Amino acid sequence: MHHFQYRGDDLYCEEVPVARIASEVGTPVYIYSHATLTRHFRVFDEAFAGVLHLVCFAMKANANLAVLKLFSDLGGGLDVVSGGELFRGLKTGVPPQRIVYAGVGKSREEIAYALKSDILMFNVESGQELRLIHEVASGMGVRARVALRVNPDVDPKTHPYISTGLKKSKFGFDIGHALEEYEAARALPSLDVVGIHHHIGSQITEIRPFVDALEKTAALVRTLRERGTEIRYLDVGGGLGITYKDEEPPLPAEFARALIGVIRDLDVTIVLEPGRVLVGNAGILVTRVLYTKQTPARNFVVVDAGMNDLARPSLYGSYHAIQTVRQVSGRPEMTVDVVGPICESGDFLAKDRGLPRCEPGELLAVMSAGAYGHTMSSNYNARPRAPEVMVRGNRYHVVRERETFEDLVRGERTLDELG
Ligand code: LLP
Repeated sequence: MHHFQYRGDDLYCEEVPVARIASEVGTPVYIYSHATLTRHFRVFDEAFAGVLHLVCFAMKANANLAVLKLFSDLGGGLDVVSGGELFRGLKTGVPPQRIVYAGVGKSREEIAYALKSDILMFNVESGQELRLIHEVASGMGVRARVALRVNPDVDPKTHPYISTGLKKSKFGFDIGHALEEYEAARALPSLDVVGIHHHIGSQITEIRPFVDALEKTAALVRTLRERGTEIRYLDVGGGLGITYKDEEPPLPAEFARALIGVIRDLDVTIVLEPGRVLVGNAGILVTRVLYTKQTPARNFVVVDAGMNDLARPSLYGSYHAIQTVRQVSGRPEMTVDVVGPICESGDFLAKDRGLPRCEPGELLAVMSAGAYGHTMSSNYNARPRAPEVMVRGNRYHVVRERETFEDLVRGERTLDELG
């Protein structure tokens, strides 16, 4: 369910015509729907209402402060993976007791920053990291709350780049060795071992892999308890998929029911790290057609958004539906490649896509772009990053301005300037 719908022939976001935003703010532009974000958070959160739980939004999916604030006001926390994400979260006012910190490469400085901020817990990914957190915490005279991220070796049946819980993956501790690792962690006096974490991948559209992973982790929690390690937080990561095209992922309620079935007797707070499912279908990327071009081999629609704005199609071959912002009846359909202005053949938003014959100047909406859209955008080809707009009811707000050319060179000096 989302709030991007046609009224007559024009695409609206809630009560605002998309074309109006595009003409006033320019293109390319990301547009998010406040009502959709709110609904997605509530539905997900309420699905777990029967158990102690904390929804820590995986802000790598969408790090805009307005989005973070909205979820925080609804009671959400954050899953962060860097000092920069922690900074964004704290700047938004997300309570640190609701922040968990994962990632295989936390630096000493990032660890110190998170300890100083007194976050809920670190999701620790290696023995060396455990020892470094211990060392930094004891140097600061504090105790660090930690969970060990275990790798349950479950195939989530998704794109290989976003599978993270397979045996060969770089993430977490091998589940077969987890008991020894927990023993090692408990021996470090500046660590407070409070949890367990796993995350098996992203855009997962079946329940089975989630349940398989949780059964393995839950069994480990029981064994740990028998051996005297009290696990208070069971963090199941993120990964619930969305519909981009014709996928039929489980609804949050079904997802919750299945997970709760596994952990009901476990007496833990379940931590969830949804990213895509909260924001993916709450955002679109609006782009303008610059040119249409026919070669003997193909039909191209050249638009003003490129792989620097939305990397997913070129990086993973991801499908994003593309719709004309204005529907015009009677146009013939054509098979086209929708391509951007970047000087790379991999710069496309869609390939072999059926679209009504487009005209230069018209607007296209790239759907389901709210997750891993703006956060993965770059300045490649010296392109300023796109603005982000949040629509609430009949008003829209620019929640991040378009970058300027001056922004592109901020902080740079030539050797001549430096003398
Ligand atoms: N927790 C951890 C530890 C993660 O690594 C991730 C995503 C999540 C939670 C959130 O997963 P989600 O609910 O969004 O599936 N750039 C890729 C996705 C990379 C996901 C990385 N980790 C894409 O555009 O598809």
